Amino acid sequence: MTASSPSVQIDADLTALNTFGLPARAKHLLRVRSLKDAQQACVFRSIRPEGDPGLILGGGSNLVLRGATLDTVLKIDIPGRRKISENKETILVEAGAGEPWHDFVRWTLDNGWPGLENLALIPGTVGAAPVQNIGAYGLEVAERIESVEALDLATGNPTRLNAKDCQFDYRNSVFKRTNRWLITSVRFSLPRRWQPLLSYGELAKEIAADGIGQPTPQQISEAVIALRRRKLPDPAELGSAGSFFKNPIVGAKQYAALIKAHPALPHYPQPDGREKLAAAWLIDQCGWRGRRLGAVGCYAQQALVLVNYGGATGADVLRLAEQIQNDVQKRFGVALEPEPVFV
Ligand code: EPU
Repeated sequence: MTASSPSVQIDADLTALNTFGLPARAKHLLRVRSLKDAQQACVFRSIRPEGDPGLILGGGSNLVLRGATLDTVLKIDIPGRRKISENKETILVEAGAGEPWHDFVRWTLDNGWPGLENLALIPGTVGAAPVQNIGAYGLEVAERIESVEALDLATGNPTRLNAKDCQFDYRNSVFKRTNRWLITSVRFSLPRRWQPLLSYGELAKEIAADGIGQPTPQQISEAVIALRRRKLPDPAELGSAGSFFKNPIVGAKQYAALIKAHPALPHYPQPDGREKLAAAWLIDQCGWRGRRLGAVGCYAQQALVLVNYGGATGADVLRLAEQIQNDVQKRFGVALEPEPVFV
């Protein structure tokens, strides 16, 4: 390959490339640093053996590696961030898919372009943010994405998908539903007439407890960081993939029966009349919070997070997840769906 080709590592260890710290190997690990690299890597990826998932890695923070040796893994390291334009309503900024998400959020705030502060400290990369439509403290990234540049893996052609093409949904998108796209950069539309977003009760409480009347974007990001540090493990210290299960959404009839039997069940009404339930509460009620099963466990500060105490395998994680799912199903009749991607 030429000087501008992606660098290739043979027989690479993937343990440090996923925040859960699960072991797996790749026969070929390609580091992609540009659009050109991405196009060449696509060609290489297209000739992998049948059955290989052709994993595309960002920060590896929403991933459960089951442990099989993979043939071809692309690690997306495309850098860069810039302001593109502004008008009366919005500021348009762009970042390479490989930029660490939190550094990018900080850069926008440091430049005086608020709008992403509620999503501070989420692990992972800019390119991974649209894949699962990251969300926290009342905001989903879909609300700030103008468009996504991605390679069509079938043709190797760069394509710009607008927000509608991305088919965003709760922790889902066209990028997660299909394996058709490799995201190279993302454009964000940030509001010039900024308003603090304090719809999430706990965030409003945190701001009030700090004695702040009219919070600045920086103060909101600081409050979000404080909340996250309190409830979520630092991936550098304890392996995890953040929330392991999605908050389940149930129909009005099932919700009515559940809330009658469990009046304390936290729930969030959806625009379509259904109700989103707090999976963490359901798991907690089944006695799982703080429980350990060998090398894995359910985090003591947040029942929705499964953690690796050291040396865990993908099989350990799956066993624990299944037991939790079974207990929640038996007790509440609710099916929990995992949030991470299994490879
Ligand atoms: N709760 C419990 N026990 C627990 C933890 C929470 O009963 O161990 C209760 C809380 O008291 C609260 C409810 O469950 O009433 C919801 O908990 P929390 O506010 O902590 O949020 P969550 O629903 O568990 C979601 C996202 C997080 C996001 C937070 C904050 C999902 C799957 N998770 O968690 O996203 O940071 O809200 O907005 O939607 C992620 O996706 O990886 C993630 C961390």
